[in-house]
Amino acid sequence: MRKKLVVGNWKMHGSRAANAALLSGLKELGPWSADVAVCVPFPYLAETALALTGQAVGLGAQDCSAFEQGAYTGEVSSAMLADLGCRYVIVGHSERRAYHHESDQLVADKAKAALAHGVTPIVCVGETLAEREAGQTEAVVKRQLAAVIHTLTHCIGEIVLAYEPVWAIGTGLTATPEQAQAVHAVLRKQLHAATQKSDAMRILYGGSVKPDNALQLFAQPDIDGGLIGGAALKAADFAAICRAAH
Ligand code: 13P
Repeated sequence: MRKKLVVGNWKMHGSRAANAALLSGLKELGPWSADVAVCVPFPYLAETALALTGQAVGLGAQDCSAFEQGAYTGEVSSAMLADLGCRYVIVGHSERRAYHHESDQLVADKAKAALAHGVTPIVCVGETLAEREAGQTEAVVKRQLAAVIHTLTHCIGEIVLAYEPVWAIGTGLTATPEQAQAVHAVLRKQLHAATQKSDAMRILYGGSVKPDNALQLFAQPDIDGGLIGGAALKAADFAAICRAAH
């Protein structure tokens, strides 16, 4: 039985005051039986780590460099994330693939860099609306995952995978539980061929998860929790989603 994981992706939202209010709201509403984490913007990692002291909520970042260290202005290394107490880092979010032209290989290299420092990469895959309508969903997510499997080889069992259909992100258009489950099953099968640990690996769903649809999504056999955007910015909504994951 896989323990569910719910991760809030704050994206480029927040301020010191807003974060303090959100985190203290979560503290009052928790704990939950699922594993829970928040992936916050880089400038707020240190302060969030302090605010989460003694709580079961894990800390994560939203990206990391594929490089170890050096002259890479503006980059943040996975060693730095580990140093700040990060347990997770999101890599390959569709917003980074789209706006920063991140390739499948770069995403895989970032996942490798994270694992090298004991930070669990949450690797995102997902198709665009045009790709879904062209019947390419399976091919796209399999291609994105294949690069990570090829690069991590025997370490692939250490990642968390997240299926985030691009057309469902921030649109209010959630994949139906059946649509999401179908893709999760494809991904689990691909992982199964690569590692004996596939049954223990968590595959999260992301894309317009809300308190009113979380329960149905999380009830699917291969959906092991969620990667939550907008609803993670409201303590009551995020807490309700965490409660739905049991
Ligand atoms: P929304 O929950 O706002 O659709 O965002 C999903 C997402 O991109 C999480 O990484």
